[in-house]
Amino acid sequence: MERTVHVSAGGGYDVRIDRGLLARCGEAVRQSVGGAAAALIADAAAGALYGAAVEQSLRAAGYRVCRRDITPGEQSKNGQEFLRLLEWCAERELTRTDVIVALGGGVIGDLAGFTAACYLRGVPVVQLPTTLLAMVDASVGGKTAIDLAAGKNLAGAFYQPSLVLCDPETLRSLPQEVFAGGMAETIKYGMLYDPALLAALGTDYDLEEVIARCVGYKRDAVEQDERDTGARQLLNLGHTVGHAIETLSGFAIPHGQAVAAGMAIVTRAAEAQGDCEPGSYEQLEPVLRKHRLPVGTGFALDDLAAAMRRDKKRAGDEIALIIPRRVGLCQRRLLPVDALEDYLWPGAVTR
Ligand code: GLY
Repeated sequence: MERTVHVSAGGGYDVRIDRGLLARCGEAVRQSVGGAAAALIADAAAGALYGAAVEQSLRAAGYRVCRRDITPGEQSKNGQEFLRLLEWCAERELTRTDVIVALGGGVIGDLAGFTAACYLRGVPVVQLPTTLLAMVDASVGGKTAIDLAAGKNLAGAFYQPSLVLCDPETLRSLPQEVFAGGMAETIKYGMLYDPALLAALGTDYDLEEVIARCVGYKRDAVEQDERDTGARQLLNLGHTVGHAIETLSGFAIPHGQAVAAGMAIVTRAAEAQGDCEPGSYEQLEPVLRKHRLPVGTGFALDDLAAAMRRDKKRAGDEIALIIPRRVGLCQRRLLPVDALEDYLWPGAVTR
């Protein structure tokens, strides 16, 4: 059964979720954006699996297709690759009414999305996310970026896609760890908004229903706060600590795993500080463990705090920390950066 979530941001767009959507993406792209040429920018691994089917579907829908495969991994999300993509679009004579199609996970979505935002001051982009994390988070909401030497996502634009097609068949090919990283983001939505979702993720769940529900929550956050100045920041639950863990590990610990540990740490801390209903962590922990996600980190709290001081979410001497009040309700709290370590220390010890 196909599910559709409409997002009223940018020009407004549908996020469609159904098995087999990639093989029939051409008609969907034509209906949503039209144009004569489609520039397919693919993660090389996703491209090897699904690129031919996507190209074929785009051609069958009447597109002139050109394709560029990008080496998988965060290291491709850099300024040189971005400039090469812009030049490639120009060499292929892509015009303003044509479309960029991004096939892959969050890295490709960010890189192709930022290319689309900048090429000719903006051409339509269609996201074809092939990881769970990209389906429930990165492909929706228009955050696009590349990394700078000083850190991740330091150059980018808010640029909404024209269409997002999630084909859950692609999740079958994901390594367990990558799939689990996406589950961390679905667990986050349970902590933020939905105790029943959190409970379901600990037992039996229908993955397509979970994706649609999470996309619905992402849509709500984006519609309330497209530019990320208020309600959308709740989506950073677990991310302040998580980014510090990622950074200290030299990005060896993947984003989702780091966020899982961050959520566990901040929930334990909030409970110990009297901000969060007792028993909340007891609900979170088994769900994280079921999905083989970490509930703590080996990094010392003072190292984590030092990394958090450099977080790009820091504003002056303060940083916004997302604090669970209970499962299904979280709150944004501005803390002086000097108070972070004291606040988090009761959560930093894994029970
Ligand atoms: N990934 C968080 C956001 O889109 O705001």
